[in-house]
Amino acid sequence: MAVLKQGFQVGDITIEGDLILAPMDGYSSWPFRSLCRDLGSVISYTEFVKAEDVLDRPDYIEDKLYFTEKERPVFYQLYGHDSEMLVNAALRLQERGPDAIDINLGCPNRSIVSRGAGAGLMLTPVKTARIFKLLSRELKIPITAKIRLGWRDCQNQILIATIIEGYGGSLLAVHARTKEQGHRGEPNLKAVAETKTRVDIPVIGNGGVSCVEDIHTMRELTGCDGVMIGRAAIRNPWIFSHLNREEIPPDQVHELMLDHLERSLSFYGKTKGLILFRKFAAGYLAPYELVPEKRKRLLTETDPGKFTQQLGEIFTRIIN
Ligand SMILES: Cc1cc2nc3c(=O)[nH]c(=O)nc-3n(C[C@H](O)[C@H](O)[C@H](O)COP(=O)(O)O)c2cc1C
Repeated sequence: MAVLKQGFQVGDITIEGDLILAPMDGYSSWPFRSLCRDLGSVISYTEFVKAEDVLDRPDYIEDKLYFTEKERPVFYQLYGHDSEMLVNAALRLQERGPDAIDINLGCPNRSIVSRGAGAGLMLTPVKTARIFKLLSRELKIPITAKIRLGWRDCQNQILIATIIEGYGGSLLAVHARTKEQGHRGEPNLKAVAETKTRVDIPVIGNGGVSCVEDIHTMRELTGCDGVMIGRAAIRNPWIFSHLNREEIPPDQVHELMLDHLERSLSFYGKTKGLILFRKFAAGYLAPYELVPEKRKRLLTETDPGKFTQQLGEIFTRIIN
């Protein structure tokens, strides 16, 4: 199928393209994010950071906020429950020069929603209105939001979407599941489509996209301006180049793994860099049938040189 070059505006920022890596805590850190950006993801959303951490222990989240100029547009994602604290944290983040600040209204984790943050904000429209009113008044850069379809049966995403737009939000990413569905339930694309018709700001559809065909389905059924992809990108970052994993020959998988590993080692140092790369390595290698002991040996290796050597041996066997 022909790939049309899509685009949309977020405030004054022109987004050239329509596929976006989802913010994923523990995954969308600089090594993987920058790699996906190189492969075609058009916005670099960081993993979420907590408002209190931005204000009280910035060193703790320093890694998560690093970005390079080449990665722009960079959207810092922030979560919190207290409006004053969110605004102060957003102002602090703005000083670091991101292109936009995204507020998380989607995280379903108990520890976060119990305090009224993440998807908890979907339950408090008046507070959400106040947060966006303050943010759009105080900040110079666009404020965006990532929302869900509401809590359980109560799908109040249209109310929340119109509040966010009404109080100055410039873009909405809509995860097509409720908080109760977590990350597993069937995505409701019809509800995303309805949300799209009710606001004038751009809407990104998210949830359950696992292959290139799903991107087309999401666009056709929702009319969204962009498509955000999370878990599927972990084993197939080429999806941002509109390619399915089956289309990628092993030598290219090998090459990309070495590139990703190098980014991880240079960013985190040898020990942490290799440990944090393991879960990605497992994803890249998932489609291949490997001897279980060899796979285990590779994924527990602590020396980057030996890891690279074993990986080379594995690919020699896959290719031949
Ligand atoms: C491990 C993991 C971490 C996540 N962390 C975040 C996060 O920091 N911020 C956020 O808005 N969503 C987060 N999400 C949700 C994703 O952005 C996305 O909405 C969800 O995975 C659905 O998309 P998918 O079906 O394409 O994976 C996370 C999801 C996963 C699986």
